[in-house]
Amino acid sequence: MAQHAQERRIDQFFSGPGARADEWRGLVEAAKAWSTGVGDRGGFEEQLSQLSITEEYHAYPGPRLMAALRERAEAGDAAGARSLAMRITHALQTRSFRQHAGDWDVHAETDTEAPDLLPPGFGETNTRRPYFETLIVTGVPATTWPSLAADWRKLRRPLDSFIHEPVFVGSFEDAFCAAMLNPDLGAVIVNEGFALRSRHDAPVLRALMTSMDQKETSDSALTLAKTLKRIRPELDIYLVSNRNVEELAGNPEANVARRIFYSVEELLELHLAILEGVQDRYETPFFDNLKKYAQRPIGTFHALPIARGKSVFRSDWIRDMGEFYGPNLFLAESSATTGGLDSLLEPTGNIKKAQDNAARAFGADRVFFVTNGTSTSNKMAVQALLAPGDIVIVDRNCHKSHHYGMVLSGAQPLYVEAFPMTEYSMYGAVPLRTIKQALLNLKADNRLDRVKMIDLTNCTFDGHIYNTRRVMEECLAIKPDLIFLWDEAWFGFARFSPFLRPRTAMGAANDIEAWMHDPKSIEAYEKHRASLGDNPSEETLLNTRLLPDPRQIRLRVYQTNSTHKSMSAIRQGSMLLVKDVDFHTVEAQFKEAVFTHASTSPNQQLIASLDVARRQMELEGYGLVANAIEIAFAIRKAVAANPLISKYFSVLGADKMVPAAFRKSGFSDYLNEGINWGQVLHSLKEDEFCLDPTRLTLVCGTAAFDGTQFKGILANRYGIQVNKTSRNSVLIQSNINNTRSDVAHLIRVLAEISSEIERDLAQGGANAIKAFDARVKSLMTDVPDLPNFSHFHDGFRGDAGERTNEGDIRSGFFAAYDAAGCEYLRLNDPEIDRRLKNGPDLVSASFVIPYPPGFPIMVPGQVITQETIDFMRKLDVKEIHGYNAVQGLKLVRHEALAKLGDRHAPASFRPAAE
Ligand SMILES: Cc1ncc(COP(=O)(O)O)c(C=O)c1O
Repeated sequence: MAQHAQERRIDQFFSGPGARADEWRGLVEAAKAWSTGVGDRGGFEEQLSQLSITEEYHAYPGPRLMAALRERAEAGDAAGARSLAMRITHALQTRSFRQHAGDWDVHAETDTEAPDLLPPGFGETNTRRPYFETLIVTGVPATTWPSLAADWRKLRRPLDSFIHEPVFVGSFEDAFCAAMLNPDLGAVIVNEGFALRSRHDAPVLRALMTSMDQKETSDSALTLAKTLKRIRPELDIYLVSNRNVEELAGNPEANVARRIFYSVEELLELHLAILEGVQDRYETPFFDNLKKYAQRPIGTFHALPIARGKSVFRSDWIRDMGEFYGPNLFLAESSATTGGLDSLLEPTGNIKKAQDNAARAFGADRVFFVTNGTSTSNKMAVQALLAPGDIVIVDRNCHKSHHYGMVLSGAQPLYVEAFPMTEYSMYGAVPLRTIKQALLNLKADNRLDRVKMIDLTNCTFDGHIYNTRRVMEECLAIKPDLIFLWDEAWFGFARFSPFLRPRTAMGAANDIEAWMHDPKSIEAYEKHRASLGDNPSEETLLNTRLLPDPRQIRLRVYQTNSTHKSMSAIRQGSMLLVKDVDFHTVEAQFKEAVFTHASTSPNQQLIASLDVARRQMELEGYGLVANAIEIAFAIRKAVAANPLISKYFSVLGADKMVPAAFRKSGFSDYLNEGINWGQVLHSLKEDEFCLDPTRLTLVCGTAAFDGTQFKGILANRYGIQVNKTSRNSVLIQSNINNTRSDVAHLIRVLAEISSEIERDLAQGGANAIKAFDARVKSLMTDVPDLPNFSHFHDGFRGDAGERTNEGDIRSGFFAAYDAAGCEYLRLNDPEIDRRLKNGPDLVSASFVIPYPPGFPIMVPGQVITQETIDFMRKLDVKEIHGYNAVQGLKLVRHEALAKLGDRHAPASFRPAAE
């Protein structure tokens, strides 16, 4: 336990909420041990003193209950200490203290409430009022804090929509730690005159500062405000100054504060401002209106008979649908865009306001709500930003919506390859060197002006996170007006983790923007340019970390996220985030893209859920995401630590998921022996790729299950649904919905399956062991090579240059519409082998996308190579989009290709051997 205070485990720091619950459970255990004679008072007091420091950053249980615990210990009252510790722990676990005044009372064991001792305001209204805590940073002595807290509570009025409790801290360090550790904070008041260092000399606090690379402290209220905004951008910050308030207010940097107050006299004003600030985040303009709309008596004489539900509830035959979903679903349905509603296609009212709120929450300039998934968001972005003939550098393994977007827009994909993880039949992410090489090739071909966009997936399905800032900076150094489209379908939640945010598209874009406006950046750039010399060689450019000219950059960043995949939106709810200085030049195109893709009957509940998901993330996203990360760590730890489970299963760490060449920091994995926060942070900042801790690749091939088979067992026998599969693994994803009970269930199931394997092997004798080993070998060792993208056939290369392999995918796609120009060959037809050997080329007429792995192993117009055929022949999956085993591969006939050749007169191209 003593060691625990010195060097806290990484999994605890990342999170907070769960670690805190563990600490309290530990206290209850210590109290039980003391009261039953197994332990002693010393053990209880040690545990209590350990959690006392970080408890100061929370309003509940607060100084009075903590003092009561200490007093009971001092009085030798083991039973009293135990019952109070249990009561507090229960209130924390159930979160009942937010609504239940008795939880705050020292003497409430018998359920008698003592109203004079309680924070007034609790229980005074019948409606449940959301609760949050306000951090007050102040220089006044700690002895005055209880009376100040009482003054704050007196301000509460029954009219208030929310209840908030103050939490006092006296220094920069404590404010920093409170912002990191207390997910209930909703607002911060920074008074001038606070100290630099914490009054506690606890290693735990220093480690926490290190965890966010916070080396400096300052007595400047503004510096503290900026620091807190860096960790928790969603928090409202109020600066209170007794001195230079006008000067402070005039400083442009002070815009991190929501308001600046002169002197603490204005307590009521501050209280009202705080409530208003939280109300701004609580407000869900579209959802609020939809609720109002549902309450109004409305006669509908338009389409959508289901609206108002009369045809449902009056029916003998479909009433169960109404009973299942409840009346509100029908009352809130409408095809109207007036009468308090708005139009998703041309939003001017509450949908527009809801989108603006989402832009604020996600750090974007503007947001489009999309009701047909990120599949549609991606197609919209690609269509709006690219015209026929534009080149886009794109990860070949990206989601099919990007490829289809290029078919629609006529843009020419220049496919770049991610690093392969052949052993697990999956791809990683695209190395920056590969992307730079593609840009330099285009430059050498004098075609740099044609490349408009870099299109990448962050994080990938399997959890590879790019160094988004570095990728954008280095690419902008080669071409300063490139547009970036980051598909963050899986990564929307990352905005609400201070550790992951810098690696999101918007996090990095905001950091780059700040860098561009820092005068020191020009100096840094000039130095960098001088060090490169006038005519740097391609090799130098590839080997150097390039810096863009901050004066030249046109920052144009787009991010799509499947809000439904990581936040509380209904399935298909997605957002398209924009941070583009030149958006005005493409605004009309975006309108067209919305008109092209958005249904004219978008689902109201979907739009409302996007609005609500945003509200939740702005008000409690920090704690929820911390919890999701903590759950993931708990699973990783439990699998690794269990001797039986770890015999057959493992969760891949960063060391397995990211080759060492992309982990220059030397970081191996989050929970590896000896890894500390400094290393985690260094890795997150510097490494080319990191692993999203919430995405867990569980290897099941070592237990003789292929991914699809194991997914089926988990679902059918145990009711556990997992994400994607590979030949020998399944992907488990933790999210804001998971609890420790989910972890317990998963671990119990893995233990049960492991026991069954043990039993079967023991009972089956040598034959069973032989069969098991052979199956494991087949799954883990005899894995097919992953086929890289080959090249487009000359007929589909458009006017491509010498050194690059972009192609006219659109023509390839429409070649399939000419039935006479296409043929089919079955996969096992020897004709395939003859053609591979002697020609003519086999040219795919369609996308062929096997699930798993889920990337297109053929795109229209692509020349099919031996590797692709080998891969397909080895594939043992049932679901292959674009391929019908009975018909065979759909190919463009070479006669049809010959005609195309005449039309395009392409340069002959074969990719250079690597
Ligand atoms: C990387 C990526 N982008 C986009 C999508 C499509 O998202 P949606 O299901 O919201 O349409 C997916 C779906 O799995 C995906 O994995």
